[in-house]
Amino acid sequence: MKKKLLVCTNYRANPNQPSCAARGSKEILAELTRQLHTKNVSIEIEEIQCIGFCNVGPNLRLMPDGEFFHAVSNKKLLKIIKAAKIFLKN
Ligand code: FES
Repeated sequence: MKKKLLVCTNYRANPNQPSCAARGSKEILAELTRQLHTKNVSIEIEEIQCIGFCNVGPNLRLMPDGEFFHAVSNKKLLKIIKAAKIFLKN
């Protein structure tokens, strides 16, 4: 399986049902894509519809079998990009 970074962009309009896009994952994805490009980190990004941690989103995961990132904000992107670089090398 090709290494990639999953980004949940599921949106639920009902505020009683949390979702990653309602917490800003689409904007985070845009900034992540920009920063990966700027830093020449070539990892495939796949948007997905829920990885099962809706209460602690926005959620990302390195695949296959990689680290989860929860409650992601733009402040955490540098850490995620560093983890992605290491993941790609291993
Ligand atoms: S909505 Fe993103 S993990 Fe469920």
